[in-house]
Amino acid sequence: MADVLKERLLDLLRSETARPVSGEELARRLTVSRTAVWKRICALRADGYAIESHRRLGYRLTAVPDRPLPAEIRRGLNTRILGREIHHFESVTSTQDVARRLAAQGAVEGTVVVAESQTAGRGRRGRDWHSPPGAGLWLSVVLRPDLLPAQVPLLTLAAGVAAARAITEAAGVSPGLKWPNDLLVDDRKVGGILAEMSGQQDGIDHVILGVGINVGAGPDLFPPELRDRAVSLARCAAREVSRIDLCRWLLVALEEVYLRLAAGESAAVLEEWRRASITLGRRVAVILPAETVVGQALDLSPDGGLVLALPGGGTRTFLAGEVSLTMAGGS
Ligand code: BTN
Repeated sequence: MADVLKERLLDLLRSETARPVSGEELARRLTVSRTAVWKRICALRADGYAIESHRRLGYRLTAVPDRPLPAEIRRGLNTRILGREIHHFESVTSTQDVARRLAAQGAVEGTVVVAESQTAGRGRRGRDWHSPPGAGLWLSVVLRPDLLPAQVPLLTLAAGVAAARAITEAAGVSPGLKWPNDLLVDDRKVGGILAEMSGQQDGIDHVILGVGINVGAGPDLFPPELRDRAVSLARCAAREVSRIDLCRWLLVALEEVYLRLAAGESAAVLEEWRRASITLGRRVAVILPAETVVGQALDLSPDGGLVLALPGGGTRTFLAGEVSLTMAGGS
């Protein structure tokens, strides 16, 4: 539950950073008791806000943490659907699990779950998603799209487009998109998308759309086995990147592409995907559970599939699978 008083107190402190404001004045302006103010000051400090307290003079906000807290994400967020509800956690198994539980309990469309760390973050095909504390944006959104299950791959591509836009805005680097769900910089993975659907053949109840983006810069950000394959925005941009800004840009961009899909304008979204693609035009291997198919990645199909030109002639369209740019030999 959002603590409205905490958010109002934060707004007040933000508007008065030039001077300390006494507990008495804060209590009067918020029409609550001084004890209520004190409790919220403690809660804000626990969230990571630096609030000086000067005896007799009162409180002054001196620093805002770069944590994707609901109050920070909401500042200046001009979305209609995404972020209507935002839940922030220190640690969860997976934001996908929490969002799915909330969706089953009737959470409104656009509910966002974001966590500092995940103990069992997951990627596609049952892979682990390394999600150490504070090192990335680990986020899931509850969507209730009016799409057929067969159109969910479009949602994955659209989310990739949105994440690429957000990364460009927040970090000044433009990632390339590898079909279907990877965001890469210099051939190393900076982020990924995971769409998990709940529903029947004829309709979707909800989709939990997960986005993971590596942001931090610590030397031990990735375990040894990932170091050659993964990269963070701070490394690519050679500067710190705000997770709050990234999250806000992401929600704005996600909403825009989502509304486009809902309006039947998937062609425009696919066109943007093509422009950011590092898959099309290359010789690739599509890895399926039972076979691996090598060919030239030609285009996207209207439903977001990957069209491959086969060496023996003809084409084949894949709606699922994993693309390897290296296993195909050459480019
Ligand atoms: C992939 O590249 O395979 C998809 C990675 C998706 C990771 C995100 S992090 C937030 C959300 N919670 C998860 O457990 N996974 C997604």
